[in-house]
Amino acid sequence: STQKIIIAIDGPAASGKSTTARKVAGKLGYTYIDTGAMYRSVALKVIENGLLDTLKQAPEQVAGILEGISIAFDGDRVLLEGRDVSREIRDNRVSREVSFISSLKPVRDSLLVMQQALGRGRGVVMDGRDIGTVVFPEAELKIFLVADARQRAMRRLLELQAKSPDGTGLPDLETLEREIMERDRADAERELAPLRKHPDAVKIDTSRLSIDEQVEMVYGMAVEKERENRS
Ligand code: CDP
Ligand code: CDP
Repeated sequence: STQKIIIAIDGPAASGKSTTARKVAGKLGYTYIDTGAMYRSVALKVIENGLLDTLKQAPEQVAGILEGISIAFDGDRVLLEGRDVSREIRDNRVSREVSFISSLKPVRDSLLVMQQALGRGRGVVMDGRDIGTVVFPEAELKIFLVADARQRAMRRLLELQAKSPDGTGLPDLETLEREIMERDRADAERELAPLRKHPDAVKIDTSRLSIDEQVEMVYGMAVEKERENRS
């Protein structure tokens, strides 16, 4: 029989990680885990507790936020302290601050423990920035997705437009592209677990691929790895 594997998908913002990870997990009967949603949930809690400015002066105080924090997945929903925050964590106010929050060591240490526990049963597709390099360096399949920054900004804008049909409060394409590139730079240049391609990761440029094409590519590699892994 085939053996379940771990699939790590990393890459910059809006490169197609979660779309690919969710669909590949569905096809394989695996669990999808969105680690970006976990970092976003911590950032949301900081913002809602009015602690952002405090943490910029005294980052060690983030310990109070992490103590007893509960982040859970229920299908496609993300639950923070039992409350559905799936929409709030995608707000631009969270996107703007999440790279700062995710650069803090206590935050990374806490989420790493949770993520490794979530993958213990194998049969997971996990996406983020450091899954192949730090969380599961032993993952049988590691993917690194990239795409042109303009293309990624356009994809994000389409998503935001779908959520706000009357167009109120939408950023323009240039602003969105600048914010995305700024976040990528922060994620790639930070000291702890920076965004980086693991040497064994397969790089896929999704700029000119359809969603189905990128899903089929990753799914095909996964099936092959499952076969190699047969006991
Ligand atoms: O969906 P998008 O690509 O915009 O971002 P995300 O995957 O939701 O991740 C949001 C942020 O969380 C990233 O910009 C990183 O700062 C942080 N993150 C991280 O540091 N490590 C991970 N494994 C996942 C996300
Ligand atoms: O998770 P990450 O931030 O890397 O990206 P995503 O949320 O999966 O994808 C960003 C947007 O690009 C989504 O609206 C996708 O539907 C879209 N997209 C894609 O992922 N791949 C394509 N080939 C075309 C569009």
